[in-house]
Amino acid sequence: MSGRLDGKRIIITGAADNIGKEAAVQFVREGARVVIGDINTRAGTATQAALGNDAHFIPCDVTSEDSVRNLIEEGVTWLGGLDALCQNAGLQYSGSVTEFDAERWDAVFAVNSRAHFFGAKYGVPHLRAAGGGSIVNTASLAGLRGGPGMTAYSASKGAVIAFTVALATEVAPDKIRVNSICPGWVDTAFNQPAIDFMGGRAAQEEVVKAIVPLQRQGTPADIAPMFVYLCSDESTYMTAQAITIDGGVYN
Ligand SMILES: NC(=O)c1ccc[n+]([C@@H]2O[C@H](COP(=O)([O-])OP(=O)(O)OC[C@H]3O[C@@H](n4cnc5c(N)ncnc54)[C@H](O)[C@@H]3O)[C@@H](O)[C@H]2O)c1
Repeated sequence: MSGRLDGKRIIITGAADNIGKEAAVQFVREGARVVIGDINTRAGTATQAALGNDAHFIPCDVTSEDSVRNLIEEGVTWLGGLDALCQNAGLQYSGSVTEFDAERWDAVFAVNSRAHFFGAKYGVPHLRAAGGGSIVNTASLAGLRGGPGMTAYSASKGAVIAFTVALATEVAPDKIRVNSICPGWVDTAFNQPAIDFMGGRAAQEEVVKAIVPLQRQGTPADIAPMFVYLCSDESTYMTAQAITIDGGVYN
């Protein structure tokens, strides 16, 4: 049986669980081999075990340039090359701007924005060597449309969207495509800081009902197929886009 990603060699960060894990599961199902980089060694090892021989976990802290360089170099050695790099690791802190502090601001930017620069810096030469490929950056609806308590997170994801466009123009002559995925509310524990800021789960669900035309939060399975599409040859004329998957909020 042939898959949509047969023979593709993919590195994905932040794939120990939830959205990234579901993307990795679908990559393998579609015929790719996958390297997972994540700071959560326990969950990352479990995900590798669940995926079998076509997946390999490498512990990685994306806030460290050395760690990202190691992920790419060790990952490319295991894969035998690189066709796609997905930068999905993320961190969320919520809080009103007057109570926020520089330490948390910098921490959010280090994971959500600066890491994408490291990945591109060390990943692009390998994508060039492969004759082209795809970079998929996980941004967020929050990078396009902010909300209360989300200044740092929104700004960091807006930076990813701008970075994606600039990088896409820079590497287009090398047949490397760069796009960002912007999920809306996806029901994972990642959103707990935002839920706490909103006053709890019931308050969050009310907001979701009020602002999401499809009247529900998304699931990792709603988001992962876009990763598959962007890593496949089905999307070879698509670059520099910010793709919202948010139940219709951004319209
Ligand atoms: N859940 C949502 O509603 C939502 C909405 C929009 C965007 N996103 C984005 O989707 C991505 C995945 O989110 P998720 O909901 O699956 O949550 P998640 O917490 O499962 O995913 C984040 C992953 O990043 C990893 N990570 C955090 N810091 C890291 C570091 N320094 N180095 C390496 N890995 C690190 C975590 O261990 C985790 O596996 C994130 O980038 C997030 O910003 C999520």
